[in-house]
Amino acid sequence: MSRDRPGSPVQSDRRATRVTADPLGKAMLAHQRDEPGRLVYRDGADVQDGNVAAFYFSTPESWGPETVECLERLADREPILDVGCGAGKHLLWWADRDVEAVGVDASPNAIRAARERGLEEGRLFVGDMFDLPIETGAVGAVHAVGTQIGLGRSLAGIRTVLAEFARVTADDGRAVVDNYDPTRLDDGFFGYRSDPRTGIAHRCFHLEFERETPDGDRRRELGRTLQFLLCSPARLREATIGTPWCVTATRRANGDAYYRAVLERR
Ligand SMILES: C[S@@+](CC[C@H](N)C(=O)[O-])C[C@H]1O[C@@H](n2cnc3c(N)ncnc32)[C@H](O)[C@@H]1O
Repeated sequence: MSRDRPGSPVQSDRRATRVTADPLGKAMLAHQRDEPGRLVYRDGADVQDGNVAAFYFSTPESWGPETVECLERLADREPILDVGCGAGKHLLWWADRDVEAVGVDASPNAIRAARERGLEEGRLFVGDMFDLPIETGAVGAVHAVGTQIGLGRSLAGIRTVLAEFARVTADDGRAVVDNYDPTRLDDGFFGYRSDPRTGIAHRCFHLEFERETPDGDRRRELGRTLQFLLCSPARLREATIGTPWCVTATRRANGDAYYRAVLERR
């Protein structure tokens, strides 16, 4: 399924997204290459470790049943598009089961890391989830897990992302997206910003990747401030209004604030 092969879902005339700072992607690539470096999330004086190994390179043995259930639910809708695929851990799961899937990520270094993990070059693309480099109706399913839909920043922004997911999927398409439910969070949650509306909150932080060069200098790469909209499942349903999507299931791990939602085309 390369760019040039007939029937490819990928639009060959799109330019790669320009990224200036890419601390998350650099951290993934450094981990993949066994190079030193530390990723942190920073919100003012609050700092949290980026947990690159535990999160972006986790393997199926450590995943909960709800994760695998969502991957399985998309497997019969191949080809699958993994939006914000990172270093490709979910793409590897489908590849191991001969399920056809392609990955798009805004980070060129994340895509490099995914390639170096053995994923096929022609199935990995740098691109933006708001303007996917994918042909209309070319995929059967979209998977966007890592709370990146929250980067829509508002319910209207999430609706825009969902409309773009609808554009690239077939009429019987399915999607899995995720978020944190603010009705189960408080201001102890990293980067939390409240909102007067029930079921809505925000999360702000930026990423930093710090490493030491071979000649002993310390280098720190700072990403832009990320602003996420956190929304409850009920608010996610509100965001689907005006799109062809309908939320058909939500899955939580151990009843916690994090959830995945399954969306089907109406
Ligand atoms: C939390 S990570 C999740 C990565 C992967 N899905 C996983 O579970 O390991 C979010 C990913 O979304 C990507 N991302 C952020 N904004 C994006 C955008 N506008 N378009 C495409 N990818 C984006 C980031 O580069 C990052 O790799």
